[in-house]
Amino acid sequence: MPLFSKGSKKSTPETPKVDEHFRHIAFIMDGNGRWAKKRGKPREYGHKAGSDTFKTICQYCCEVGFKAVTVYAFSTENWKRPRAEVDAIMDILDHYLEELKQNYKQYHSRFKFIGDLSVMTPALREKIVYVEGMNQESDQILNIAFNYGGRSEITHAFNTLTAAGKTTVSEEDIAGALYTKESGDPDMIVRTGGDLRISNFLLWQAAYAELYFTDKLWPDLTTADVDDIIRDFYSRKRRYGGL
Ligand code: FPP
Repeated sequence: MPLFSKGSKKSTPETPKVDEHFRHIAFIMDGNGRWAKKRGKPREYGHKAGSDTFKTICQYCCEVGFKAVTVYAFSTENWKRPRAEVDAIMDILDHYLEELKQNYKQYHSRFKFIGDLSVMTPALREKIVYVEGMNQESDQILNIAFNYGGRSEITHAFNTLTAAGKTTVSEEDIAGALYTKESGDPDMIVRTGGDLRISNFLLWQAAYAELYFTDKLWPDLTTADVDDIIRDFYSRKRRYGGL
């Protein structure tokens, strides 16, 4: 089933729906490498499985009503990985963009790539521009963080503001200059793979996000897990520093 497509029916009457209190969910998709290693396969195999999970989970998040989904697909630090692994992730991205382009009528949401895309090949950038132009009227958005780092995003925001002549800035100015300005802050950040950190992801936007950690490796995450995550979110009390 294509990602964020029209009319798929994976959700059931038991599926919890989200409302205005849980608009935006973000995922740190960790554990692809270990998932592959457990099967005696190369890490690239794990990323391929991870990309299938990415499509399933994002599709489902759209069905249950999230207005924004943000995924951490490639960090500014991921360039340090072996060339073959980086190439494999770029290849996955290329295929995914091609799939979106070819089947554009089946998709419902908007797509936005957040991160510094200046280092991508012109061919990839061209596809990204095309895909970002799709479904402009949609009220749902999928943000794909690629060559993304939270510190670099905040630095970029400051530079944008100073280039526009600002000498002092407000919190609203900064929020409005971030890549995620249209989606707002995530209500919950989910990290798979067992590590308890946010790894330079959505640093500014995470200020009041609920955090959810699971030992499950990303390729193993299921739509039933998303149901559990939603129930967990609604069992929490968000006080934003108040009582
Ligand atoms: C982290 O797992 C995962 C990544 C760095 C890549 C994430 C990519 C995908 C899920 C595929 C979807 C991609 C696109 C382009 C939409 P890891 O490799 O660090 O796993 P490990 O901690 O087990 O080594």
